[in-house]
Amino acid sequence: MLVDGAPRVACVTPARRVAGRAVTTVDGLPADERTAWGEAFCATGASQCGFCTPGIVLRLAALRAKGSADVDGALLAHLCRCTGWRTIGEAFAAYGLEHPPRDLDAASRRATIEGRVPQRVGPDVPLGGGGFADDSAPVDALVAVPDGGGGWAVGETLTEARALAGKVQGRRTTAYPRHPLEVPPGDWAVTLRTTWVEPAYLEPDASWCAPGGEPATPLANGGAFGGKVGSMAPAVARRLADEHGRPVRVLLPREDVVRQGPKRPPVAAGAAVDGTGVVRVVRTAGVVDAIRTHAPGLVVEEVDVPGPSTSGALRAAGWAEAHVLVAGARGAAGPVRSPSGAVAEAEVGEAGVRVRVSCGDPLDEVCLRSYCIGAAHMALSWVTSEGIATDEDGEPHDLTIRSFGILRAREMPPVEVEIEPSSGEPVNGSDAVFAAVAAAAWIGEGCAQDWPTRTTRRT
Ligand code: FES
Repeated sequence: MLVDGAPRVACVTPARRVAGRAVTTVDGLPADERTAWGEAFCATGASQCGFCTPGIVLRLAALRAKGSADVDGALLAHLCRCTGWRTIGEAFAAYGLEHPPRDLDAASRRATIEGRVPQRVGPDVPLGGGGFADDSAPVDALVAVPDGGGGWAVGETLTEARALAGKVQGRRTTAYPRHPLEVPPGDWAVTLRTTWVEPAYLEPDASWCAPGGEPATPLANGGAFGGKVGSMAPAVARRLADEHGRPVRVLLPREDVVRQGPKRPPVAAGAAVDGTGVVRVVRTAGVVDAIRTHAPGLVVEEVDVPGPSTSGALRAAGWAEAHVLVAGARGAAGPVRSPSGAVAEAEVGEAGVRVRVSCGDPLDEVCLRSYCIGAAHMALSWVTSEGIATDEDGEPHDLTIRSFGILRAREMPPVEVEIEPSSGEPVNGSDAVFAAVAAAAWIGEGCAQDWPTRTTRRT
């Protein structure tokens, strides 16, 4: 938002700070500017789920009004989980230009394949038209938030529900993420330990439901790359609506998403140059099969440890780790074939990241490229920077979106994407890119055992 014309991050600005001042949201931009920003973001693939973009559009509008072009600097206060930043800079440069005609239905099909849940591409999405559950709730709906004791505090307004819950939202910690598993003994060429990684979707889980009705999906516009697939919000909204006889809007604040949402399961593993090895992984449905199917030479041991819940639905869970480990042991990133049948190859060097992907008919190259850049960003972040700190009991202590270690725009190198032309069946390509970039990045760093490879917490 703009406050008296200056950009401010709405999600951390208390309403009392803007009392009596002029607040402009993306809806308050002049119509021609709104249209031009929506089209520039759409034309460059600079928006996927579209949750972060209304704020970013205002930030860039203010930057442009100032006559500056320091997009990466302007984005320091923002986070985008999806795009990998680079296309946002392209959108800034494309503002007000003519854009080539495009089949947005085909783009939406590609976005749906890459996101694995329905996603729509269009110039309204970056302007907040993604159809998020919390935007569509009736204004008179009751509001429910977790009460901290396993139940729900229900009030007439969000303020009232929060007051009833009586909780103070969490902060980040200065603690460093732990590695809960030890590498199995063996004569290994490489060893790897990872920690719990938060999917870190920007829109916290939300749903609403009328009595006897169907709850709004928390997956619009996109499912956070598997992070929201098992969200509790719809079932809770349905139950509370029936109990109260009124529509109920259910919101999980960030702290509750971190405490209760699924994480990428940690592993500790060793592998030899012939591709054999042992992987210990925190017990997670589906992950053992994912590892064994991708790398039959790896023996998998499931381990129970105290910690946050984990999910095999997260992007490339298990098989990406298996690919990284075997590629590291062999000392060559090589191509990776995903379970979907896509093939990707990546190089990570001084000049940036180069990615080649073959995933059937691209349907829409702008969209596919955007997802590949986003996957490259997620992979670089995962290897070098992401992870949440937990205590010995496994309780998460990193409770804000800024504490998860997501690489910022200034830290993100350029990404070149080469898409193999094909008229074959389109399949998900960005998951293969994710695994390929992770392997190339790790090998480029000399296969340091512990991820994230950075040894200090970010400020
Ligand atoms: Fe930025 Fe999804 S498009 S968070």
